[in-house]
Amino acid sequence: MTPSDRIRVRVRVPAKVNVQLAVGAARPDGFHDLANVFLAVGLYDEITVTPADTLRITCEGPDAGQVPLDATNLAARAALALAQRHGIDPSVHIHIAKDIPVAGGMAGGSADGAGALLACDALWSLNSSRDELLSICAELGSDVPFSLIGGAALGTGRGEQLTPLDVGGVFHWVFAVADGGLSTPTVFREFDRLTAGTPVPPPAADPALLDALRTGDAAALAGTLANDLQPAALALRPSLADTLAAGTTAGALAALVSGSGPTTAFLAKSRESAAELAEALLASGTCRTTRVAASPARGATVLEGLLNGY
Ligand code: C5P
Repeated sequence: MTPSDRIRVRVRVPAKVNVQLAVGAARPDGFHDLANVFLAVGLYDEITVTPADTLRITCEGPDAGQVPLDATNLAARAALALAQRHGIDPSVHIHIAKDIPVAGGMAGGSADGAGALLACDALWSLNSSRDELLSICAELGSDVPFSLIGGAALGTGRGEQLTPLDVGGVFHWVFAVADGGLSTPTVFREFDRLTAGTPVPPPAADPALLDALRTGDAAALAGTLANDLQPAALALRPSLADTLAAGTTAGALAALVSGSGPTTAFLAKSRESAAELAEALLASGTCRTTRVAASPARGATVLEGLLNGY
């Protein structure tokens, strides 16, 4: 093994749930202004980058077959964008160990974009500032900047302008993973269809929800969870109503569609009640599988890299 064979950088990136997703009217550019309260949750993808002869992507994990391995993958786009900015060769092998549900409304693709960006920045010893990385993230997609910073944040604009938020405790979640994904643009188009002809107020963060996050009060957070995309996701995938009802019946503090869905999120009182809730949801037969995770979680983090001796 030559020294260059051993050069690699491994980055871990969390999934997210939107505890509030307030959506405004469609803008002239087709995007929607949002008040998007992101909370990172402890489900992670791991991105490993190694030097290669050409830019290529591989993926492992139960849903790996659903992940595009071409230049449309946000991880490839991140490597290309960073290399282009610095006028360097983007040849790198990006391996994604995928644990975040695919096309599930949990920002799995965005996580891979943010993770690949941070990993390539370290591999190529570019030492980009956080602001430089955040600006590339925003070019890649509305949710990508949050995947980089993690924790909790209010996203305004199309969701990419972030204000970090304090979180005063640990929240326990169950995620019910549905069969198949939902396309985010399709869900936003359905939102437009459902709200056509009615005034859509400008989106605003709910102060009671921000207080609940700050104090770590799960019961208070449960009373304020809100997702304006939920009616659209339910219209496109009516069976999600059964999943939400099954979780509520099984004792969830609150239930909602995660982002544009179709993953549904259930807030639990404790780690133990989350485990029980996950079992009940699976037994209800209304979802493909369940995942238990706590929040907040750290943003994209280098686990192994050049600092470890190379
Ligand atoms: O930013 P991103 O590429 O992730 O967005 C995917 C799609 O979701 C957009 O093309 C748009 O249709 C929709 N979207 C939106 N308003 C936002 C964010 C996303 O309409 N604020």
